[in-house]
Amino acid sequence: MIKAVIFDLDGVIIDTAHYHYIAWKRLASEFAVTLTPAHNELLKGVSRMRSLDIILSLGNIEMSVEQREQLADKKNNWFVEYIESIRPEEIFPGVVDLIKNLKAKNIKVGLASSSKNAPRVIELLGIASEFDTIIDGTMIVHTKPDPEIFLLAAHKLGIKPSECLVFEDAEAGVEAALAAGMKCVGVGSPDQLGKAELVIKNTGDFSVDLVDSM
Ligand code: BG6
Ligand code: MG
Repeated sequence: MIKAVIFDLDGVIIDTAHYHYIAWKRLASEFAVTLTPAHNELLKGVSRMRSLDIILSLGNIEMSVEQREQLADKKNNWFVEYIESIRPEEIFPGVVDLIKNLKAKNIKVGLASSSKNAPRVIELLGIASEFDTIIDGTMIVHTKPDPEIFLLAAHKLGIKPSECLVFEDAEAGVEAALAAGMKCVGVGSPDQLGKAELVIKNTGDFSVDLVDSM
């Protein structure tokens, strides 16, 4: 029986995954690496430094720790600029209703994002109070596909991992949820997210009644 639902943020609640992509693409173009949507799937859910390392490996580029930190900062500054204009209206359709319907069924609701910018995004969207717990990239050591973030969210919610359902748009996120012993709904394409119990195109496509069958 599902007693808690844990949402990823980027690409599940709002399309900030797109801003991560265009910021990485802009950075990659500076050292002649053309980032494709297929490459981008590998960057979803993982940490900022891991994303950079994946991009550098695409171009067989080696850099010192200092250079990599500078590049990661540069990407992050662009990302922060891009997200400053986001508004509550951009929350994916049906997400706020889904959260309210889950709560009406006495199901706890958490947020677990690998992003260190998650608190700012949530603030801009004005939805912090919707969540019983919020875990972001500053609160964990290992990012997805490691299960740490989801296990921490379950612990804070006081719910067993086997009673948690995760919503994820990243392959690394689905792997993390399953490694945590949780059920998972993939938001996106079965090509990347096929390991999830259920794959839907948009978060808002999930009807709260489906929780009982998960
Ligand atoms: C995840 C995104 O939510 O956060 C990744 O899916 C991103 O694309 C990661 O790299 C880290 O985000 P940030 O904001 O800490 O650089
Ligand atoms: Mg995501």
